[in-house]
Amino acid sequence: MKSTQNLLSVMLVFAFGLFFGVTLIFHLKDISFSLRFTQFSLSTTPSATSTAAPAGVDLVAPPLPVDLGLKGFLKPPELMHHMTDEELIWRASMVPKVRDYPFERTPKVAFLFLTRGPVVLAPLWERFFKGYDGLFTIYVHSSDSSAKVTVPKDSVFYGRRIPSKDVEWGKVNMVEAERRLLANALLDFSNQRFVLLSEACIPLFNFSTVYSYLVNSKHNFVESYDLEGAVGRGRYSKKMAPIVKIKEWRKGSQWFEMDRDLAIEVIADKMYFSVFHDFCNGKCYADEHYIPTFVTKKFGETNSNRTLTFVDWAKGGPHPTKYTRNDVTKDFLMKLRNDKSCEYNGKKNQTCHLFARKFTSHALDRLLRIAPKLMQFNL
Ligand SMILES: *[C@@H]1O[C@H](CO)[C@@H](O)[C@H](O)[C@H]1NC(C)=O
Ligand SMILES: *[C@@H]1O[C@H](CO)[C@@H](O)[C@H](O)[C@H]1NC(C)=O
Ligand SMILES: *[C@@H]1O[C@H](CO)[C@@H](O)[C@H](O)[C@H]1NC(C)=O
Repeated sequence: MKSTQNLLSVMLVFAFGLFFGVTLIFHLKDISFSLRFTQFSLSTTPSATSTAAPAGVDLVAPPLPVDLGLKGFLKPPELMHHMTDEELIWRASMVPKVRDYPFERTPKVAFLFLTRGPVVLAPLWERFFKGYDGLFTIYVHSSDSSAKVTVPKDSVFYGRRIPSKDVEWGKVNMVEAERRLLANALLDFSNQRFVLLSEACIPLFNFSTVYSYLVNSKHNFVESYDLEGAVGRGRYSKKMAPIVKIKEWRKGSQWFEMDRDLAIEVIADKMYFSVFHDFCNGKCYADEHYIPTFVTKKFGETNSNRTLTFVDWAKGGPHPTKYTRNDVTKDFLMKLRNDKSCEYNGKKNQTCHLFARKFTSHALDRLLRIAPKLMQFNL
C-alpha cells in the first residue's frame, strides 16, 4: 500500500516537472524570438517592420546579417565598386577617433600602379611579392580596360584593377587618378604605407627590405623643392594666390610614398586641389606640383622631401632616360642600389632609392634573369 502511494507521488512530481520544463522552454523561446525581432527592427525602417510582421502571421526571425560585427566592417568592399569619386573619397576619408586598434593589425604596404595599359613588368613584381601574402595589397589604375583581360588568374595582379578613368599626360586628371588610387587603398584599414608606381618601375631591393624600410620610416617620401625658372616657379599662376603664394610653390617627382595619415589628408583636401584644378592644367603639370606644394605647406615637418624612386634626368629634355635590354647589367643595378648617401630617420643611410624607372618591356627578360638573385628575392 505504502509503495503504491510512493510511486504515485513520484509520478506526480515527475509530471509536474515535465510540464514546468516544457512551459519554460516555450517561454524562453518566445523571449529570444521577440528579442531577436527587436534587434532586427532597430536596423530597418518602421515601414519595413510592419510589412515584415502582418497581424496574425507567425513570426520567423530572419538570420542576423553577418557583418554587424567588427569583422564585416573591416572587410574592404569589392574593388570594382560602383561609388562615384565623390562617394569614394567621402567614405575613404573616415578616421577613427580612437587611435589604438582593438584587434591584431599587421600593417600592409599598398602598391599603387598608375599605368596606361597592363603592368608590363608584372612578371618581375610577381617574383618580388612571392611569399609575402598578408603584407601587401595591389591596386591598378589603368584607363585602358584591356588591362584586366591580360592578367592570368593566378597572378597577384588578378582582379586588382580599380574603377579607372582617362589620364592625359600633364593634365589634372593625372592627380585625380592618384587620389582615386589612394582612396581605394584607404578603404582597407590594414594599409599603412602607400607607394605610387608606374608600369616602368622596378624594385631595387627584396620585399622584406622594402617593407621594413617603409613601415619603420618616421617620414613621408614626397619629393619637394623650390626651383627658379620656366619649369619651376614659371608654372605658377598669380590666380592661385592667396591660397598658394609663389614662395609656397613646390616641384617634385609625382612618384611618392606616404603613410596613412598623409594619404587621408591628400584625398580629403578640397581647398588646394580646387586651385590646382582651376589654374594648373596643361603645361603646368599638376602631378609635379600639387602634392609637393600641398604637403610642404601643410605637413612639411612629416616629409623627407625626397623620392624613393630613382630616375635619370641627366640627358635633359621633358622625358627621363629609358632603360632597355642592354642597359640591364649586374653592375648597373648595383649602382642604383647604392646610389648615394641620404638620411633615413635622421641618420645617414646608403639606401636612398627602393625603386627605379624607366624600364621598357624589352628589359624584362634580363631583369628576370639578374634581379631576383642580385636582390635576394624569396626564391
Ligand atoms: C633581402 O635582402 C637583404 C639585403 O638587401 C638581405 O640581407 C636579406 O637576407 C634578404 N631577405 C631575404 C628574405 O632573402
Ligand atoms: C622637409 O621640408 C620641410 C619644409 O621645408 C621641413 O619642415 C622638413 O624638416 C624637411 N625635412 C627634412 C627631413 O629635412
Ligand atoms: C639604413 O636603414 C635601414 C632600414 O632601417 C637599415 O636596415 C640599415 O642598416 C641602414 N643603413 C645604414 C648604413 O645605416
